[in-house]
Amino acid sequence: MKGLILSGGAGTRLRPITHTSAKQLVPIANKPILFYGIEDMASAGISEIGIIIAPNTGDEIREAVGDGSRFGVEVTWILQDEPLGLAHTVLIARDFLGDDDFVMYLGDNMLEQGLTEFVAEFDKDRVESQSPKLGEARQPPAAQILLARVEDPRSFGVAEIGPHGEVVQLVEKPDNPPSDLALVGVYLFDRTINDAVAAIDPSPRGELEITDAIQWLVDNGHRVRHEVLSGWWIDTGKKDPLLDCNRLVLETVEPRMAGSVDAESRIEGRVIIEEGAEVVRSLVRGPAVIGAGTRVVDSYVGPYSSVGDNCELVESEIDHSVVMQESTIHGIPRIVESLIGRSVHIRRSDLKPRATRLMLGDHSNVDLE
Ligand code: DAU
Repeated sequence: MKGLILSGGAGTRLRPITHTSAKQLVPIANKPILFYGIEDMASAGISEIGIIIAPNTGDEIREAVGDGSRFGVEVTWILQDEPLGLAHTVLIARDFLGDDDFVMYLGDNMLEQGLTEFVAEFDKDRVESQSPKLGEARQPPAAQILLARVEDPRSFGVAEIGPHGEVVQLVEKPDNPPSDLALVGVYLFDRTINDAVAAIDPSPRGELEITDAIQWLVDNGHRVRHEVLSGWWIDTGKKDPLLDCNRLVLETVEPRMAGSVDAESRIEGRVIIEEGAEVVRSLVRGPAVIGAGTRVVDSYVGPYSSVGDNCELVESEIDHSVVMQESTIHGIPRIVESLIGRSVHIRRSDLKPRATRLMLGDHSNVDLE
């Protein structure tokens, strides 16, 4: 079994962060989203991983991941010149994939339950389907999809399941969803998918959709298994889901204290303070993580906050937020539900006239109190 992780695409819904950086490298509890996917693959025993990258963000991703050895995997880089769709990535990964079974994993998806069970179910079904001991022989599955119940399925691929548990229909981002079962960005395939991606046409949005490729499998008599997810799953491609994901992951981190906290500070609950971080006359109330080399002075860091490396928080209060590395926040009474990029500087000053002065990148969002 090989792994294919999709880390190309445009990342338009996380602009302006993604004007300069790949959305798959946005941190969750101070670790890039993409790393969770690689680690899940390694835990499921997958050691050969192909990673799809785009021309503008590929170098940054390669630098962050390295050769894969620190995850115990071997990485093959596959450049996709244009974001022509999820199924297009399977087409261009053909040399890497060969005729092997593989897990395809969308690099901006995160799931609680990991991949081990999901992969084991597929393998078991394939072995049993071919076992002569079975009374009733059945066709081995060509694919396995993972589904999750969502409130509004219109921004996902959606599955319709028949009376006998069979996948009947899959539609991408439908206006009238046939069910509330969204396609999670983790798929298992055998080599038949290579025929499917070669046979389909681009969708109205101009992409080769993996949803259509799986529908092709169904239409051409191949068996598609499905599992319904029990734990949480988040497509982190937008701000609020990303903050939700940060919250869920922070709830599970092991507290650790590697930095320094002075006698006038208080640390409450599940908190990680990384090497070289300093907390002075401040309250840090977990779950929270304070990155390496970061200074928190006369401030409050509240629940569900991740502050990246080498940041500075002075006379400020923050909670339910992600602050990426090298950013500074001075004299701001309360920041909530915010995603703050790298090397961002926010300060309260005495400059006259008293006013809000902004220099914001394209597609920024500011919500003043
Ligand atoms: O998150 C689950 C959903 O992911 C599914 O329910 C949908 O059926 C599926 O089409 C997909 O929808 P999105 O619109 O959210 O996909 P997105 O464009 O965000 O791409 C997902 C990942 O794949 C992301 O990490 C970028 C990468 N990608 C995307 C495209 C279109 C590529 O590497 N190459 C591409 O050409």
